[in-house]
Amino acid sequence: MEPMSKKTRIERIISDDKRKKVIAVLENLVLSDGDVHRIMEVMEQQIDFANSQQEEDRKRSDFFWECTYVQGLLKGDEEGEYLGLDLGSTNFRVVRVTFEKGEAKTTTKYYNLPKELLVGPADGAFDHIADSIEKFIKEEKMCSDNAIPLGFTFSFPSVQKSLKHSVLITWTKSFKCTTGPGEDPVGMLEAAIQRRGGLSVPVDVVARISDTTGTLMAGSYLDKSCRIGLIIGSGSNACFVEQAKNFNKLEAAEKTSDQILVNCEWGAFGDNGCLDFFKTDFDKELDQNSNHVNSYTFEKLFGGFYLGELVRLVLVKLTNEGLLFKGEGSTKLMNKGSWPTSYVTEVESDGPEETSHTIGVLQSLDLTADVEDIALVQEVCGLVSQRGAYIVSAACAVLLNHIDLPEVTIGIDGSVYEHHPRFHGYMMELLEKVVPETKVKIILVKDGSGQGGAFVAAVGSRS
Ligand code: BGC
Repeated sequence: MEPMSKKTRIERIISDDKRKKVIAVLENLVLSDGDVHRIMEVMEQQIDFANSQQEEDRKRSDFFWECTYVQGLLKGDEEGEYLGLDLGSTNFRVVRVTFEKGEAKTTTKYYNLPKELLVGPADGAFDHIADSIEKFIKEEKMCSDNAIPLGFTFSFPSVQKSLKHSVLITWTKSFKCTTGPGEDPVGMLEAAIQRRGGLSVPVDVVARISDTTGTLMAGSYLDKSCRIGLIIGSGSNACFVEQAKNFNKLEAAEKTSDQILVNCEWGAFGDNGCLDFFKTDFDKELDQNSNHVNSYTFEKLFGGFYLGELVRLVLVKLTNEGLLFKGEGSTKLMNKGSWPTSYVTEVESDGPEETSHTIGVLQSLDLTADVEDIALVQEVCGLVSQRGAYIVSAACAVLLNHIDLPEVTIGIDGSVYEHHPRFHGYMMELLEKVVPETKVKIILVKDGSGQGGAFVAAVGSRS
């Protein structure tokens, strides 16, 4: 990343003293080329540990590196009706996919989990989900005597035991249910369906996948070169098509094809301290005030649940040092969570000499800003976003090296990638630099995670 002192908005600060102080606050947010390479090296080491057959090695890694047991991508000749259920944030989705000669017709409906269900026993949340599936079936006027295969996209860190069964390790993002860890997500869903006396159309839950796997499946439906499914939403994770020969966790006899879809489950990368070399005081403070302290280091660096808060902490620091908003700020600015990631994307929507979006955001937080304040706020949003995009791209670069193909498409779903006007550009910048030999394309796979759940149900039901 360009050094702070070379950035136009910083160069324009009139007072030398102020400029120096601003640079001192912000410079740790600048990633050097060396940092990027070190992230890639450390990730490769962590993968080696996670990929080992030795339990002792695996404990040294914060990656799950799970075989998804999904037998492959779509073949293009699928037929029939499938359902997807996508749970990964408070907005969950039910998806219906009807295949005709491999062509998918998709209907998606969104449902909301009331906040109180996120902190109570998991059964409450699953009962609400089961009721919503019934609502969907009714609204869609579905009817069938045969059970409809359903793929459950459950996007929380889980150890995968088979295509259908897994064990939830911990809740992440905004979920803090009092039960769930140690249990099988499909088991919890099936039990909730049973508690309500079944559904008016029988469903057969055939798979549990993560949203990344769903995105990979949906991405490969859109673009045959798609080999990575990535989520950059509230949280982050990736799934990719690994060469089976590189996947050591399974014995050779267990490998049924030369490709294995691997769910990296990388959100906790860095929890063991291996990324401390570039962590800033802002990252540490954000962690200390988060729902899940000392965990999920990687996604806290750029996930949508955190990016805005990271920006806010930087702005508060600049304000407290008298470098922003005349040292005063506003009560709203001082409140945790008052700067959502949508404000970052809003500010980043201003072009180089534009300020209207930024001013709108500042007004909504009762902040009075002069020209230098506006420029500084824009600089901070750009800096934190670019750093986040570089970090996640460095991780993608490692996967691209594993895939080792001349052309690869990365399919991405998630609010940060979808709404942030510059994230795509920042990612391309870094990838072109660190994997110049691979022609990389990045595409948005909107709602891919839920649709992919239904796709996996189709692949899983192949006889
Ligand atoms: C979860 C992952 C998920 C990712 C993206 C993380 O917090 O642990 O399983 O894929 O968020 O939604």
